Amino acid sequence: MMIKMYDSEKNHESLPQSWDELINEYGDLKKPAKKKKNFKKRDSSNHLTDPGQRWKWMVEPKYKQMFNEIEQKIQGAIGIGKFEWVDRRVFDQVFDRITLLGVYKLMHSGDIGQINWPIARGKEAHVFHGLSDSGVIAVKIFHTSNAVFKNLIKYIEGDPRFGGLKRKHRDLVTVWVRKEHRNLLRMKKCGLNVPEPLGIHQNILVMSYIGDEKKPAPRLRDVKINNAEEVFDKLKNFIRTCWHEAKLVHADFSDYNILWHNNEPVVIDVGQAVSDKHPNAKEFLVRDIQRLIDWGKKQGLNMELAEVLYDVLN
Ligand SMILES: Nc1ncnc2c1ncn2[C@@H]1O[C@H](COP(=O)(O)OP(=O)(O)OP(=O)(O)O)[C@@H](O)[C@H]1O
Ligand SMILES: [Mg+2]
Repeated sequence: MMIKMYDSEKNHESLPQSWDELINEYGDLKKPAKKKKNFKKRDSSNHLTDPGQRWKWMVEPKYKQMFNEIEQKIQGAIGIGKFEWVDRRVFDQVFDRITLLGVYKLMHSGDIGQINWPIARGKEAHVFHGLSDSGVIAVKIFHTSNAVFKNLIKYIEGDPRFGGLKRKHRDLVTVWVRKEHRNLLRMKKCGLNVPEPLGIHQNILVMSYIGDEKKPAPRLRDVKINNAEEVFDKLKNFIRTCWHEAKLVHADFSDYNILWHNNEPVVIDVGQAVSDKHPNAKEFLVRDIQRLIDWGKKQGLNMELAEVLYDVLN
């Protein structure tokens, strides 16, 4: 049983108390946190309610040492200390063994200094506010444990940059993150307004943070725009430069994936962006432009698809 295992651990004292608590609390997914006082009575015969199975690896000496090193720096994600308000289930959803090892690695390389609070929970990833020597960062951690990525294969297959892909889920996640990283690099190189990619390891992408000290920049769909026509042109030029210079199509261009920062649109979420050689590239391009036109319509602009498409292509 878990509690026994800890008590008999020689180095029990050296294991940070909060990890103990964390393991006990998170080992039981079905039990609400406030009932944690009763955890000793739990039936550990069921592996799902036995933290010993789920978190056993955490007490292995090599991992224990690792946690000692990084624990203070990921308090926000754990939801303790000054970040107590954070839903601690976040930790369980995101930080599996491989992810924690990745965070550890990125902390050693200096790409991540600390991880603070979760900014957003997406379908495929959680995004955290963090700090590093280069300033405030956004750490996008992709989920490794669900089937979401099956839907994403269509963006990777057919892109000549990602040939010979094995279909194992974790490999797919890694390729996906590399793809987002490379797309950001390429777009940034062409002067496009996207977050700057800063670091990458398996399912973790570090990029510059878009927002201020208080909160991340709002999505374009959540702000009222006074100069809609000007913003429309900027976004049209984004698609245009992306196509002609970066040779990419965003492929999920919408007011959900555009942040409004310092009175400028910043395009995010470029993981699904495909090369212009992708067999569906033109179809995605037209769809992106249609989404831009739909946004324009909400702002009172009446743009013709054919006309905007012509502007983009010529
Ligand atoms: N660099 C960044 N700086 C600040 N906030 C960010 C940054 N990147 C992402 N976010 C926030 O995280 C949210 C989710 O990011 P993103 O769209 O890249 O992930 P996703 O998993 O594809 O999410 P979704 O499924 O909602 O599209 C964004 O809507 C935005 O609020
Ligand atoms: Mg998104």
